[in-house]
Amino acid sequence: MQKIDFLDLAVMRGASGTVHLPGSKSISNRVLLLAGLSSGTTVIHDLLASDDTAVMLDALRALGCGIQADGKLVRVTGLAGQLHTKQADLFLGNAGTAMRPLTAALALLAATQQGNFSLRGVPRMHERPIADLVDALRGLGCQIDYLGEPGFPPLQLRASPQPLNTAAPLRVRGDVSSQFLTALLLALPLVSEPADVVIDVQGELISKPYVDITLNLLARFGIQVQCEGWQRFVIPRGSHYQSPGDVHVEGDASSASYFIALGAIAANDKPVRIEGVGAASIQGDIQFVAAARAMGANVVEGPNWLEVKRGRWPLTAITLNCNHIPDAAMTLAVMALYAERTTTLTDIASWRVKETDRIAAMAAELRKLGATVVEGPDFISVTPPSPTAWKAAAIQTYDDHRVAMCFSLAAFNALAGATPPVPVRILDPQCVTKTFPDYFAALFSVAKTDAADIPVLTVDGPSASGKGTLASQIAQKLGWHFLDSGAVYRATAWMAMQAKVDAADELGLAQLASGLPLTFANGGIQLDGTEVREQLRREDVGALASKISALGLVRSALLELQLSFRRAPGLVADGRDMGTVIFPDAKLKIFLTASAATRARRRHKQLIDNGFSANIDRLCADLEARDARDQNRSVAPLKPAQDAVLLDNSALSVEASMDVVLKLWADRF
Ligand code: DC
Repeated sequence: MQKIDFLDLAVMRGASGTVHLPGSKSISNRVLLLAGLSSGTTVIHDLLASDDTAVMLDALRALGCGIQADGKLVRVTGLAGQLHTKQADLFLGNAGTAMRPLTAALALLAATQQGNFSLRGVPRMHERPIADLVDALRGLGCQIDYLGEPGFPPLQLRASPQPLNTAAPLRVRGDVSSQFLTALLLALPLVSEPADVVIDVQGELISKPYVDITLNLLARFGIQVQCEGWQRFVIPRGSHYQSPGDVHVEGDASSASYFIALGAIAANDKPVRIEGVGAASIQGDIQFVAAARAMGANVVEGPNWLEVKRGRWPLTAITLNCNHIPDAAMTLAVMALYAERTTTLTDIASWRVKETDRIAAMAAELRKLGATVVEGPDFISVTPPSPTAWKAAAIQTYDDHRVAMCFSLAAFNALAGATPPVPVRILDPQCVTKTFPDYFAALFSVAKTDAADIPVLTVDGPSASGKGTLASQIAQKLGWHFLDSGAVYRATAWMAMQAKVDAADELGLAQLASGLPLTFANGGIQLDGTEVREQLRREDVGALASKISALGLVRSALLELQLSFRRAPGLVADGRDMGTVIFPDAKLKIFLTASAATRARRRHKQLIDNGFSANIDRLCADLEARDARDQNRSVAPLKPAQDAVLLDNSALSVEASMDVVLKLWADRF
C-alpha cells in the first residue's frame, strides 16, 4: 500500500446516508484470546480487520492455535489451556488490548508449563506502563523480567521454580487502566483448578464498562465471574474456557461516535444511519449517545442501529465526567468546536497513557484550528473559535487513530459559520488502520461537499509525456480519485470500432459517447463491466481517439462524465484539456512535456515490454503528427492553461517529477 503522508479534507457542508461499522476492537481481541485459550473451535463473525487484531492473530498463530480466515469468518481452534509451543518472540505493535492480556495469560502458562516468551511492540508501546499488572502477576510467583525500562514492555516471561500461589487474593490497581484487571480476569481461569481465585481492586476502578465487556465475554466462554461492588472479583474453582461455537462481534461503539457526532453536526435534513451497534450493545462507549444528546444530537435507537440528526443548533456546551467513555470522549472535544461557550471533559487522566498523551495532543491540535483550550492533569476545556478566528490546520495525529478520526469532523467548520471556511489536513491518515481501515471512505460516502470545494490537480500534456503514470501515482500518494481522460476518448473510439460507427459520423459518435458505461476499478478500465485496459492501449484505438477527439459534439457529450469524477477528497485528472476546459478552477495545473524523441523512446519501450512490435522512427513521426492535430484542432486544442506550471520531464524520473508536483501542492495548502 502506498504510504499517504497527508489527507486534505475539503470544506464539507452536510451529511446523510448509511455507514456500516467495523467490528469492535475491544470485543474482537478479547474474543480472539478467549477462543485461543478454549477447548474447541470458535467461529468468529464480523471480526475487526485491523492492525490491533492482526498482531493478536499472529500471536495466537505463533502459539500454535489453529487459525483459518475465510472471508468474513475467522475460525480459531484453541489450546484448551495447554501450551503447544513453549517458546516464542511476539511482536504486538501498539495494541494494548493484545499486550496486557497476553502478558497475563502467557506469564501464567510460562510459569506453570515451562514456557519462555518475549513480548514487544512499537516504541510507543514501550512507553505505556505495565508495572501494575506485572506486580500483580509477580505476587502470584510468575517470573517476569523487564527487557528495557523497568515498568514498561518489552517483557520476558519464564518458567517458575515453584507452584503459583493463588490462595491469597491478588491485588491490582484499578485507577490507571482497567486493562490490567481485564487482563487478569481473562487469564486467571487458567490457574483456577485447585481453588477460587480472588482479585481485589485497589483504588477506584476506572472505565468500568470495559470490565463489563470482559465479564460478559467470559460468561459466553463458560466462565461466570462473581463481581462484588466493582472491588472484588471471584473466578470460581474449576473454571474452564469452553468455545461457545459461533460468536458475532458487534460494530465498534467508539467508531460509532464519529458518525453520531457527524449526524449531530451535519445531518440537517435526512439522518446519518449507523449500522452495527445500537441500544443492545454491550460496549460502554454506547453511552456516548447520551453525551451527544446532551450536546443537542437527535438520536433514534434500534437494537443494532442508530439514526442521528441535528437537534439543537448550535450544539450546547457541556461539563461531563467522562470516566465511563474515555475513548469516545475525544469526539466530544471536537464537537465542542460546534457548541456555544465552553465544554469541559473531566476525569480523563487515562488519556495520558493511551496511544499518545491524548490530553496534550487534543489541546495542541484544537488550538491550531483557533480554539481556546485549557488542559489539566485530568481534564480539558474547549472554547470554539469565533467565526473569523478559524484557521486552516495541518493536524498531527501522533500515530493515534482516534486523533485522526475525530479531527476529520473539524472539516465541517463552514457549519459553525467559519468565515472563510478552512480546509483541514490530516497528517499520517493511515494510522486509522488500527481500528477502522476504511474510515475516510466511510466519511466521504456520507459527507456532502460542493463540487467547487473539492480540490482538483490537473496534469495535461502531449501523448506519451508520462502524464498518466505521474498523475495516477500522485493520486495514490494523496489518497485522491484519478481520471485518465485519454481513456474516455479511447473507450469511445473502441466502442465506435465495435459498433462500426464511422469516424466522420459526429452525431453517431456523440450518441455513443453520452452515457458511456465506463468505470475505473481495481487498477483496470471497464466498459459495461468488461475489462478493456489492454484493448484501449492499442495504437489503432489511440489513433481513432485522436481523430474523434477533434469533434465538438463528442467532446461535449463526454463533459458530464468527466466532471462526475470530482469527488471528495480530491481528483487528479490527466489529459489534454483538464486545466483549460474541464476543470478551469483546478487548484494546481501541471503541463508536462518531453521532447518528441524522448516520448517516442518511452512509448517504444512500453510497447516492446508489453510484447508488441514497434518502430521508433515511425512512433516519433506518429507522435509529432498527433501533437500537431491535438494542438491545431479548433475545439479544446492542446495548450497549457495560463496558470499552469510547465514541467519538462525529459531528464526526470517519475519519482523526481512526483516530488516536484507534491511539493507544489503541499506549499499551496
Ligand atoms: O492520452 P491518450 O493517448 O490516452 O489520449 C488519447 C487521445 O484522446 C489523444 O490523441 C487525445 C485525446 N484526448 C483529448 O483530446 N483530450 C483529453 N483530455 C484526453 C485525450
